[in-house]
Amino acid sequence: MTAKLRCLEALQYDRFDDENYATHTSEEQVKVEDSVEELFDLFSKKLSVEVDAPLLLRNRHIAFLKKSLTHLPSTYECLDASRPWLCYWILHSLELLDESLDSEDASKIAQFLARCQCPEGGFGGGPGQYPHLAPTYAAVNALCTLGTQEAYNVINREALQQFLWSVRSSNGAFHMHVGGEEDIRGVYCALAVARLTNTFQESLFENCAEWIISCQTYEGGFAGCPGLEAHGGYAFCGLAALSLLRKEHLCDVKALLRWTVNRQMRYEGGFQGRTNKLVDGCYSFWQGGSFPLLHRILSQQDLTNLDTSWLFQQQALQEYILICCQSTAGGLLDKPNKPRDIYHTCYALSGLSVAQHSLGGHTNIVGSVQNELAPIHPVYNIGREAFLNATQHFYKLPAVHTQPS
Ligand code: FPP
Ligand code: ZN
Repeated sequence: MTAKLRCLEALQYDRFDDENYATHTSEEQVKVEDSVEELFDLFSKKLSVEVDAPLLLRNRHIAFLKKSLTHLPSTYECLDASRPWLCYWILHSLELLDESLDSEDASKIAQFLARCQCPEGGFGGGPGQYPHLAPTYAAVNALCTLGTQEAYNVINREALQQFLWSVRSSNGAFHMHVGGEEDIRGVYCALAVARLTNTFQESLFENCAEWIISCQTYEGGFAGCPGLEAHGGYAFCGLAALSLLRKEHLCDVKALLRWTVNRQMRYEGGFQGRTNKLVDGCYSFWQGGSFPLLHRILSQQDLTNLDTSWLFQQQALQEYILICCQSTAGGLLDKPNKPRDIYHTCYALSGLSVAQHSLGGHTNIVGSVQNELAPIHPVYNIGREAFLNATQHFYKLPAVHTQPS
């Protein structure tokens, strides 16, 4: 059990101070802190009878996720063009919880994703939909998480590379789909699938690093496109993409580190996505997942005597997730009083895994040791084991060298 829980300490001095000038934003922040305080108080009362608290509700999350494989409420209708994402969020969450699927279910999911693959390469949001980089990334991650020969064989690697050529922009950016918007998600998704499936080509990613660097803002984080606001989702994409290009050192690492550490909320312990916004469980990964990558750059630059711990308060994040983001019915959420959903389940668990596993196999588990999740590969956000198996498979296959058509 953790020596001393942070949420039991006097955190009053960490509460938001509006300096007697209330705004809509400051009022929202105070409301969230109030709801978090209530949960911390409730938790401290329960602690005397529940010695293992805070407990990860593993079995309830597993039941929620397994049910979601076949039954989703109508609130998910808006994700009809994101069906490979649904597969990835569920499969990755189950993998983190150390729960496997039976081979029949695994096969059905692989066959469904095969139906989402397009003749011109890449995956669409559902069968018969146009190829798009976001569901392509989700489908490849989902198939690698399944990790069966059947799943690996679904990916048409030549066609995938052709699709990547078709969405590449000469300035180094990637369009999300043919004729679609270009943003930093595109570069990350393209690089992640190319590296994972051994379809990477230098020429495909020419000028990419320079374009990514042009998205780093005056605050230090990355925006979706040059000139826009830094945001955790985009900062992760920018840093992970640079890491896949082995060119992380080209960005302003000090400014990025300063911006990222300051996104951890001093009272709630979770992360916000951008300056002056609210804590959200999904940023546990989008912000938290950047720390292992930042750690690697700093250790390469030999800037500091780095510890094995990441450069954020890992305990505080775990407490926020375990105490404030778990639905007692299973599934995780954004913040107290929000409904559970599989996106937040996936990214809150991914962030929890990052916070539990430090460098070199060191662990720092809040609550019972039974709370430990499987470790992830932070660049792709798939399980470490799934990553090793997938790369072992794809790097035995011949490299693919297509040209733009
Ligand atoms: C703001 O939402 C959200 C964004 C500006 C984009 C977030 C991007 C990601 C989560 C990364 C996606 C990555 C891939 C690989 C597809 P908001 O205004 O509702 O939330 P906020 O108030 O927390 O900023
Ligand atoms: Zn969220």
